[in-house]
Formats: sequence, structure tokens, C-alpha cells
Amino acid sequence: MSEKPARKITKKYSNGEVTVVWQPHICVHSTICFRGLPAVFDPGRRPWVDPLAASTAEITAQVDQCPSGALSWFRNSEVAATGQTPEVTAETIVEVSPKGPLLVYGNLTIKDAAGNETKKHKVTAFCRCGASQNKPYCDGTHKKVGFEG
Ligand code: FES
Repeated sequence: MSEKPARKITKKYSNGEVTVVWQPHICVHSTICFRGLPAVFDPGRRPWVDPLAASTAEITAQVDQCPSGALSWFRNSEVAATGQTPEVTAETIVEVSPKGPLLVYGNLTIKDAAGNETKKHKVTAFCRCGASQNKPYCDGTHKKVGFEG
């Protein structure tokens, strides 16, 4: 029996003082982050983490509550001192969010029916429920319509 290796992608969001690190492959979708500090963590927004929407102390206190460790943080000054450069994987990953959108991680070019192209980076959420008013993207309506799937 072979076990499929976990695909690892790491996203980073900095306010200049600290950097929030998100590792979606270990996220258990507890929702604690966006219930606790919705100005910073909003899964309906892209990017979903806005590190400028709260103080460093508020952000680090919230991130410390992440039960899975998918969210973590470091002080930028510590990285500068050690010379380590955070690495971001460019691999494309497609994740089905339970009762929510299709999350696609990576650099994308999306063509609409008229042939217009839109570049997307980091994470793009595509509607799976059919109720979004901003198709093909998720606008959070799946919660209002009680989407199951
Ligand atoms: S999946 Fe989010 S609005 Fe449809």
C-alpha cells in the first residue's frame, strides 16, 4: 500500500512587521480564524488574508489559536537576521472546499466566453454551488443557499 504524499504549498501575508504563513494542505477548516478576526481572515475575499486589517498583536493572538497549525506567523526581523528567505511553491493545487468553492492555488489565466483573459495568483475560488452572482468565482453565496457537496 502506497500513501500519496501530501502536496505542500505555503502562502505568506506580511504587514511589514510579521508574516502570516498559511499551509492549506494541513488546514482542517475549523473556521476559528475568520470567526475570531474576520477583518483579517475572510475566505470569501482574495487574497483571503489581509494582514493590514488588524494590529500585529491581534493577528498573532488569532493565529496562535489555529488548531491545525495551518496558520502560523513569524517576525520579519527574525528572518532578516537569519537570512532565510521564505519559499513559496508555484505548484497548482485544486482543492474541493466542503460545502463551498473549488479552490485553485497557483498562477492562472482565466478566459471568459468573450475571450477576455484575467490573471489570477495565489488562490482562486470558483463557484461550485451555482448561486454566485460573480461566476465563475465564489462570492460566498453558497453559505446563504445552504450548499451541500
Ligand atoms: S460556491 Fe461559493 S458562491 Fe457558489
